Amino acid sequence: MKKLILTLLASLALLGSAQASSEGIAWDKFPAQRLTDTAALQHGAKLFVNYCLNCHQAAYMRYNRLRDIGLTEQQIKDNLVFTGVKVGDLMKTGLDPKEAKEWFGAVPPDLSVIARSRSEEGKGSGADYIYTYLRSYYRDDSRPTGWNNAAFPNVGMPHVLWELQGQQRAVFEEHKEEHGGEVTHMLKGYEPITPGKLSTAEYNDAVADLVAYLQWMSEPAQNERVRLGVWVLLFLAVFTVIAWRLNAAFWKDVK
Ligand code: HEC
Repeated sequence: MKKLILTLLASLALLGSAQASSEGIAWDKFPAQRLTDTAALQHGAKLFVNYCLNCHQAAYMRYNRLRDIGLTEQQIKDNLVFTGVKVGDLMKTGLDPKEAKEWFGAVPPDLSVIARSRSEEGKGSGADYIYTYLRSYYRDDSRPTGWNNAAFPNVGMPHVLWELQGQQRAVFEEHKEEHGGEVTHMLKGYEPITPGKLSTAEYNDAVADLVAYLQWMSEPAQNERVRLGVWVLLFLAVFTVIAWRLNAAFWKDVK
């Protein structure tokens, strides 16, 4: 009996470790106070338009909605909208999904609500994930793009912010299971190869701004729903009073 329990425990432990390695690294906490920082959101919007919209779209988002984070129509026109696009347009990409699939092995997902769609129980919010993901790229010559990512192993997306961050390599530690002899690789850390335009602190800052923008972008619809909900409740309240008075008026002479 004792032996059976021990075997059971051992196999459970094995299962646990196998799962831990397949789930990837732990997520860093996204500094959420940025969400109310207009300058950070504006900087994030700029990074988004310059570095992400080439491949991804945000098809639920119009450029002129950026007025909500304090930009004027002129600022949007001058800084964020490229030729042939109007400020009232949706944030669409010119990239053909079929071609993207061919080039990267995967279609770049729409980023309108990405910050809400990637949360995971026990690991963190979607914002935490993206904040970690955009800081976890490392050089890997075995990948078609030359890049790999510790938060999303074998990702199809290249490191589009590498000029800002610089290049780094990942250092892995080998763990050998005692009985099964299976080797797992745990990320120990990164080593710089070439520096980027930004220091590590500045790069973390820039990514935080970008993630704040992605998070904000996934919210306006929600804010609007709340606003609409309030109007619906008000309407129902007023209508109830009218119906009640009407009812009284109709039945007045019957009694
Ligand atoms: C060169 C094209 C390209 C650019 C530019 C690009 N991406 Fe991607 N992105 C991709 C592709 C392709 C995928 C799908 C990867 C996969 O599923 O393997 C992807 C996936 C993602 C994902 C989803 C990851 C997941 O867990 O599913 C996020 C988040 C993301 N990109 C954010 C960004 C942000 C933010 C930027 C701007 C800084 C950006 N991308 C710029 C091509 C691009």
